[in-house]
Amino acid sequence: MSTHSRVVVITGASSGIGEAVALEYAQQGFMVYACGRNQTKLNALSDNSVNITPCTFDLNDQTELKNALPKDLAIDHLILNAGTCEYIDNPKQFDGALFERVIQTNLISVGYCLEAWLKQVKFGGQVGLMSSSAAYVPLTRAEAYGASKAGISYLAKTLSVDLEPQEIGISVIHPGFVKTPLTNKNDFDMPGIIDADDAAKAIFKGMSKGTFDIHFPKGFTWTLKVLSFLPFSLWRPLAKRMIKT
Ligand SMILES: NC(=O)c1ccc[n+]([C@@H]2O[C@H](COP(=O)([O-])OP(=O)(O)OC[C@H]3O[C@@H](n4cnc5c(N)ncnc54)[C@H](OP(=O)(O)O)[C@@H]3O)[C@@H](O)[C@H]2O)c1
Repeated sequence: MSTHSRVVVITGASSGIGEAVALEYAQQGFMVYACGRNQTKLNALSDNSVNITPCTFDLNDQTELKNALPKDLAIDHLILNAGTCEYIDNPKQFDGALFERVIQTNLISVGYCLEAWLKQVKFGGQVGLMSSSAAYVPLTRAEAYGASKAGISYLAKTLSVDLEPQEIGISVIHPGFVKTPLTNKNDFDMPGIIDADDAAKAIFKGMSKGTFDIHFPKGFTWTLKVLSFLPFSLWRPLAKRMIKT
């Protein structure tokens, strides 16, 4: 491994999009710190390349997280990708514990990561925050997931302004549907779904160019972006049509 290799830290690298992003970065010659809870999967991932170092910890455990990476590691790209998705199936019996689980992993743990690692991101480095195209418009059953991702998109915009003087770039990633273990659980049509490898290529390209809003596949995400300009009074009846009966 070259001592001049650039360094990327990726959370949620044991599966799906994060795993594909880790492989893409390793192929591009980065030293990859691949984070997740599943040690077996991370070890298997690191078997693919000498450039990949597995880091096993739970993002919701601040003590584990703070000790997960070498304190003197200088980070070029930091990609906070880990996440979970659970839907609110019965809004009247609102499941507060589900809401907490999703917000905790998708939003609050991102705050823990920023506290622990942002100071190690180099001048001129790039931080990628994983949102979702679900953040563009309110979607049915996504009270918890959509709220967590809308929070990430807001966080990315404010950080982008506040970190500019430090010359740290922010990217917010808004994927449409990507084929992963997370979406394999979905029981509805997923228009325009793409493979994780294609998502990883788009993320690497966007992060390398310092693109603020990395979104793909374009046909799907542009449609949602345009719909997001509708007043809520017009969007609401469209969203209602998605409710499963
Ligand atoms: N797939 C899509 O269509 C899609 C679309 C938009 C946005 N996204 C977002 O993309 C990200 C990756 O999703 P994916 O589809 O690749 O899902 P995935 O295959 O289920 O991967 C999720 C990753 O997050 C990690 N993770 C979850 N909770 C964790 C915790 N408490 N501590 C440490 N790691 C944790 C998992 O690691 P372990 O299993 O090792 O714990 C796993 O590596 C998520 O933020 C998701 O919301 C996905």
